[in-house]
Parts: sequence; C-alpha cells; structure tokens
Amino acid sequence: MPVSNSGYNNSNDRGLSNMEKEIPQEIHCGFSKELLDEHYAHYPAVHQNKIKEIEARLLKADTAMANTTYCPLRSLKIEHTQALNSVKLHKYFFENITQGAATQPSLEMLGLMERIFGSLQEWEKKFFALAMCARGWVMLGFDLEEGRLRNYFSDSHAEGVWSVLPLLVLDVYEHAYYTAFPSRSDYVKEFLKHVNWAVVSKRLNTAINMYKVKFCPQGE
Ligand SMILES: [Fe+2]
Repeated sequence: MPVSNSGYNNSNDRGLSNMEKEIPQEIHCGFSKELLDEHYAHYPAVHQNKIKEIEARLLKADTAMANTTYCPLRSLKIEHTQALNSVKLHKYFFENITQGAATQPSLEMLGLMERIFGSLQEWEKKFFALAMCARGWVMLGFDLEEGRLRNYFSDSHAEGVWSVLPLLVLDVYEHAYYTAFPSRSDYVKEFLKHVNWAVVSKRLNTAINMYKVKFCPQGE
C-alpha cells in the first residue's frame, strides 16, 4: 500500500476514497495473497460501504428521539465508530507488514524502545503476550499527551485511548488467521518476522513532531 513519508497517509489520503483502494500486491509475504485478499474483502471493504450508508442515515436521524437506552441516532453513532476504526486499523495493519524479512527500526525508534521496554526483545515478548490475550487488536502506540510508547490491546474496534497514535498494529481477530495458520501463536510469530519497521519508524517521527507542536508554549 502506498505510504506517505510520514508513515501515515496525508490528509487527502485519509479520506474514504483512499480507503477504497485495492489491497496492494507488495504486502503479500508469509501471509498468502488469498488470506489477505479475503481479509480485505470481508472487513475493511465491507465497512467502507457501511460507513457511507451510516452517514447517509445519520443525516436523517431524528434528534428529537435522543435517548440513552435506545434511539436510532445512538445506534448509528455506535456502529459509525466501529466501522471507522475498523477501516483505519486494518489500513495501518496492512501497511505495517513487509513483503520480505522484517526491516530494522530506526535508531530513534530503537532508543525509545530500549528506554521504555529495556530492549526490542523484551518489547516483543510483551507484545506477543498481549496478542495471545486480546480478542481484536494489539498495537504499539505513541501517547501524544505523555510523549511515550506503550503496548495497547482491544477487544473491539471501538476501544482505545484517544491521545494515542498507532505505530504498529496487529489484527488478532480469528478471521485474520484461522484459515491459514494452525494457531494464533504461529500467526503472531510470522507477523513479527514481517514487521515493516521503516513504516513504524516513520509513524513515530510523525507522532514526535505532533507531540512537539502540541506542547509549544502559548504565544509562540
Ligand atoms: Fe480484520
């Protein structure tokens, strides 16, 4: 998938139109083309269409019926969040897989990983453990408020910490691996051999730049 210099797509590319692009050929690696094509077709692609449908319905939702137990507006907003996050997280996931062997993290990335986790190997152990207990997603993220790395996991598309930018994303829903890997453990091990650290490191640079901008003293 084409990736901008930042490691994230630019503002135009973040729009729905870019999410509709076909899954790129270059990410087919230890993960078979069939597995990834099927994964893409059944989840992000379907959710892209649903986002359009939900947004059309939201325009017509009766705000006079707003209710915390049930109302169409509430239900639509819940599903809108789920679908948007599904598309974004899948996009980051497909982008941070490399065709060949895993690339190396940048020196900045490596330094930060060692400061927070002790070593890359220690980080990997913790990330792997989270991947074995999460029901949906595992990620390494950068908290824009705290300026630090953490591993996160979620059981649904809608969970997460709002000040965190995803740097490395792994889909651990069963649909991501059950047709091609004998176990989740095998799948996660294979994923860790194909991490595109170049993309992850670029995302870190973007996050660090955003962190600095966010905390510029007032008046400057
Ligand atoms: Fe998925």
